[in-house]
Formats: sequence, C-alpha cells, structure tokens
Amino acid sequence: MTTGRITLDIGGGIARLTIRRADKLNALDAGMVDAIVGLCRQIEHSTVRVAIMTGEGDKSFSAGGDISAWSGWSPEDFGRHWVRDGHAAFDALARLSVPLIAVLNGHCLGGGLELAACADLRIAEAHVRIGQPETALGIIPGWSGTQRAVRRFGSQIVRRMALFGETFGAEDAARLGLVDQVVARGEGIAAAETIAARVLSRAPRATELTKMLVNAAEGEETARVLESFAGTIAAASPDLAEGLAAFREKRQPCYGQEE
Ligand code: COA
Repeated sequence: MTTGRITLDIGGGIARLTIRRADKLNALDAGMVDAIVGLCRQIEHSTVRVAIMTGEGDKSFSAGGDISAWSGWSPEDFGRHWVRDGHAAFDALARLSVPLIAVLNGHCLGGGLELAACADLRIAEAHVRIGQPETALGIIPGWSGTQRAVRRFGSQIVRRMALFGETFGAEDAARLGLVDQVVARGEGIAAAETIAARVLSRAPRATELTKMLVNAAEGEETARVLESFAGTIAAASPDLAEGLAAFREKRQPCYGQEE
C-alpha cells in the first residue's frame, strides 16, 4: 500500500511505515503529513500487532518539516493547517493501538524528533543526530515538540535542544532517554524486527489495553481511553441488544424491573 511519499507495507503481523523522500533527507511536506492519518487508519483496520517506522536511505530518519514550503504559508494558515494537521497526524501515530517502534537511521531533527516521539520505542543507529533546531529558524517546535516531547523525554532535555540548540549523538541520546537502544549503522531494522517478534509472541489484547493505559497515564489520550473502555463494557451488556431490538421493532425498550 502506498500513499505518496510514505509507504505502508503489511505482512507477518507487522506494519512497516517508510518515509520516502531521501533526496530531501525525508523532510515532511503537507501532503506527507496528511497521508499519515489515513495510513494509521489502514493499520487500525488491519490485523497487525506491531508497527515499525523508518526513513528511506541511510542518512536520515527525517530532517523535520519541509522548511522550503514554509514561505508559502500565511501566518494564520501556518497555525491553522501546518501545525494543526501535524498534530492530527502525530496524534494518530502516537495513539495507534499497536506498539510502534521507530528506527532512527540518521538525522532526527525538529519534526523528525516529534515524529520519533510518537513511537513506543526508539532504536538509534550509531550515526543518528537528534535535535530541535526550530528556534534557530525563527519558528517553534509546533508538532508537539514542546508538549509530547516534554511528556516523553522530560522538559530539561527539550530545553537543552529547543532553547540552547544542543544536538545529541546516539550514545548521549541513549543516556538521556531519548532513545532506547543503539545499534550499528544499517542494523536498525533487524533490531526492530527482533523486538517486533517479541511483541508478536505476547497477548495482543492485553498489549493493546496496556498501551492505552500507559498513554492515559501520560495524558496522551485520556478522554478516548475512558470512553473506549466504557464503550466496550456498554456494548457487551444485554442492554445494547435490547435497545437495538426496540429501535428496530419500533417499541419502548424493556431493561428489566428494579427489585
Ligand atoms: N526541509 C526541506 N528540505 C530539507 C530539509 C528540511 N527540513 N532538510 C534537508 N533538506 C534538503 C536540503 O535543502 C537539500 O536539498 P537540495 O539538495 O535540493 O539542496 C537536501 O535535503 C540535502 O540536505 P543538505 O543540507 O544538503 O545535507 P547536509 O548533509 O549538508 O546537511 C542537515 C544535513 C540535516 C544538517 C541540513 O540539511 C539541515 O540543517 N536541515 C534542516 C534541519 C532542520 O532545521 N529541521 C527542522 C525543521 S522542523
């Protein structure tokens, strides 16, 4: 399955998302951002149990949002579309029901870091460079780089990158908790496949529910998690069957009498 410059391949219980714009270091333009929501929906409607996301080539995971496109946006549209659409896309990724592993195979900057922050696990290849250069360009980290990134990595790390311009290599990133594992250049996907196999060996429903609970604990999607759990319980109750039957038969529902 392909949507423009981001491809989705599904097989063996694993969804593989690849950003395919290597000539621009996998910078994300508006069309790519828009595609992410639909791709996430395809993953949700499939039977996959784990997802892996990486960038094309061996130089860059993603060098962030497409800087060259920014001059075409009015300030209002920048906030209304660029930032808002980015949030919708990255929220969908962070809230995938299956665990998401990011393989950071090079530059992971700005929007690239915000993208990586959506994953449940980050594997860094040895040559990775991680940072938030936005304020040097006169813009803010607007795809949740001051929000989800703070929740997931801690505010001090974000301060160091976003306010002071620090860029971290793989070992420092692992020490600071920005990434979970460091592997040699070119070995990220193999490492991710090994971890994905471990996910596949575990119970899918319990894994999904646990991810939802961890996300809720982080404030990632508390409202949806609450309503999902309640919705599942309500849908399993005989009341729903009676309510639907009454609607179909054009009568008042009978939910039983109080003792
Ligand atoms: N948006 C648009 N295009 C980008 C890009 C971005 N974020 N990052 C890289 N590119 C493009 C470059 O313009 C260049 O295109 P060109 O060949 O048509 O000139 C191509 O990708 C290769 O990048 P280049 O700068 O030549 O590679 P490099 O190895 O010399 O430098 C970086 C790599 C990552 C240090 C440098 O590309 C860079 O600073 N990119 C911007 C990173 C950034 O500020 N991201 C935050 C945005 S949210």
